Amino acid sequence: MIAPKQVQEILDAVRIEEVVGEFVALRRRGVNFIGHCPFHTEKTPSFNVNPTRNIFKCFGCGKGGSAVTFLMEHENFTYPESLRWLARKYNIEIEEVERTPEQLAEQQMADSLYIVNDFALEHFQGQLFDTDEGQSVALAYFRKRGLREDTIRKFGLGYTPDQRDLLLKTAMQKGYSVDLLKKNGLVSQDGTRDFFRARVMFAIHNLSGKVAAFAGRTMSTEKSVPKYVNSPETEIYVKNKTLYGLFQAKKAIRQFDECILVEGYMDVISLHQAGIENVVASSGTSLTEGQLQLIKRHTDNLKILYDGDAAGIKAALRGLDLALEQNMNVRIVLFPNGEDPDSYVQKVGSEAFQQYITQEAQDFIIFKTRLLLDETKSDPLKRSGLVKDILNSIAKIPDPIKRSIYLKESAALMGMSEEMLITETNKLIGSGMKKREEQAARSPQAASDSDPYMPAAEPDFHFSDEQPPMPSAPEDAAVLAPDFRPRRNLSRSAEFQERDVIRLLLMFGQQQLEQENTSLAAYVLTDIEDSLGDFDNPLYGKIAVEYRDLLQQGNPVDGQYFVHHTEKQISDLAVDLMTSPWQMSQNWIEMRNFPLQHQRDPELNFTEDMRQALDWFKLHKLDKMRRVVNPARLKAANEEGDMDAVIRYTRIQMKINEVYNTLAKRRNMVVPPR
Ligand code: CTP
Ligand code: MN
Repeated sequence: MIAPKQVQEILDAVRIEEVVGEFVALRRRGVNFIGHCPFHTEKTPSFNVNPTRNIFKCFGCGKGGSAVTFLMEHENFTYPESLRWLARKYNIEIEEVERTPEQLAEQQMADSLYIVNDFALEHFQGQLFDTDEGQSVALAYFRKRGLREDTIRKFGLGYTPDQRDLLLKTAMQKGYSVDLLKKNGLVSQDGTRDFFRARVMFAIHNLSGKVAAFAGRTMSTEKSVPKYVNSPETEIYVKNKTLYGLFQAKKAIRQFDECILVEGYMDVISLHQAGIENVVASSGTSLTEGQLQLIKRHTDNLKILYDGDAAGIKAALRGLDLALEQNMNVRIVLFPNGEDPDSYVQKVGSEAFQQYITQEAQDFIIFKTRLLLDETKSDPLKRSGLVKDILNSIAKIPDPIKRSIYLKESAALMGMSEEMLITETNKLIGSGMKKREEQAARSPQAASDSDPYMPAAEPDFHFSDEQPPMPSAPEDAAVLAPDFRPRRNLSRSAEFQERDVIRLLLMFGQQQLEQENTSLAAYVLTDIEDSLGDFDNPLYGKIAVEYRDLLQQGNPVDGQYFVHHTEKQISDLAVDLMTSPWQMSQNWIEMRNFPLQHQRDPELNFTEDMRQALDWFKLHKLDKMRRVVNPARLKAANEEGDMDAVIRYTRIQMKINEVYNTLAKRRNMVVPPR
């Protein structure tokens, strides 16, 4: 393990143009460098390297990041591999950190389990390639299934004959510990028999390519023999955090910015052999949260290939709301009856296969809507359950624009009023927030003030097939509608203001404000402390909170920290924010009617930029308070007849209005009379 302090030392030493320059021919252009993007084919160079910010960004394909990201993408390195490469380049000697005895023991155990698996792999491969039986039975089987020898080797396929204890005996002869063999599930618990017998073997690799486990497939068609048997879970094999094929697929997943998910081992191997390499398998179960996280590290785009029956598919769909919550784009492809990806690609070939999955891919929400509609065709009562189900999925999507598009499409599909769906979705979002707030209130570090924006309510639908669809909402309302309310007097969305605050934090957080005698970050984060849990865009909120926490722990960070963030969404966002300052300023200018010539270079103008950003940010939060949050409290107090509360909230309302008006005036905003 590399010590955090040394990681910093390495990152500090790195000069992005020197690193990228080893792989891409760069030309100087002003303070930046430019070249042909290595991640997509282009005629005119749009690949930018910015030495000041130590980041690269391709304006053609959108790829961007730090030197570390560059190495991970370009060289297919892991994070530590990139750091080691950089350390070598900059002559930094890495001292591995001291570990506690427990950590050491754990590591030693893991190492020995891997060593035993390596031995087993060699054994299974030897049985396959170097014995008569292996060749005539197992190799013939793989060949019959269309696998080439290079594929068989690449995926660590093997064979174990029908013998009671061949592996066990060989291992003992070579001095391997029977305890470790038992622990890995290679040998029965009483230590007398091999676990895998008379099967072709599949090695299951971890992310860095070590063998973590095995699966064995029978070659018999006997129904009573289980088709696949798998290694048990161990320290080195945690099933719900393992995706079969990810080690072999990760480079292609990043390259194509898409992950294809299939069900079986053979599907992965066959597609890979056909040149479709961005494929992983969930190994027959529905996707777990841990597996989703693994995919999300590499891409936001998930294409799921299903070969099952309707019931199986419905069960599998349930897990996918998790992906929506993570703002991933999920698409579904179904296969013709009786075909799975393996059989289909072997039948039609790579090109036709690619074409098929491109054409047939359906958006997850739309797919789910159609599937459920079909199922409830003749039962209007069941349909209200369907609507709830769909809206529950849509409510999980964090991006309001995406939500609005889905609401529009599903309203059309279901023949329902879009406005009603919007209202109901907002209720669900509100009650979801309330639930989260209540959870937070129960935990010790809870946010002090928790106010539900909306009353919790389950949507309740009564409608029959005969009911004519209501007229649809106007075009532009659809984009804003899924948020909490129409905005009449604030021309830009709250998310825009939030984005700008985060941009300032990342770009100028460590700059000192002379008048305030503090850093910009400390100033900003203290100033909006009360709203930190109240960001409309959870990703921005997350960055703000993480920034604040680090600051409070005395570890001030800057934009580079977020550029190197382990969460891809955050590091992508950081790069985006830091590469488009002018675009942002341009928006500021338009929106506030500032004459262009008065706007100084944003690098010099951060203090004024900050004051403006904070005012606008607060205006938005106050606006929500005065129009949604506080009136709801007031109404509740009125209904309960709690006069003290009515008076208190009325006073608060007046105070909010006052502050709001002051800020609005300062920002030259026209405040409509209320
Ligand atoms: N599976 C399993 N145990 C079983 C059956 C299936 O672990 N008894 C998992 C395996 O990961 C398998 C996947 O579920 O790859 C899909 O099962 P299935 O479609 O039956 O197998 P295929 O992958 O199509 O295998 P093959 O083509 O060899 O029949
Ligand atoms: Mn199959």
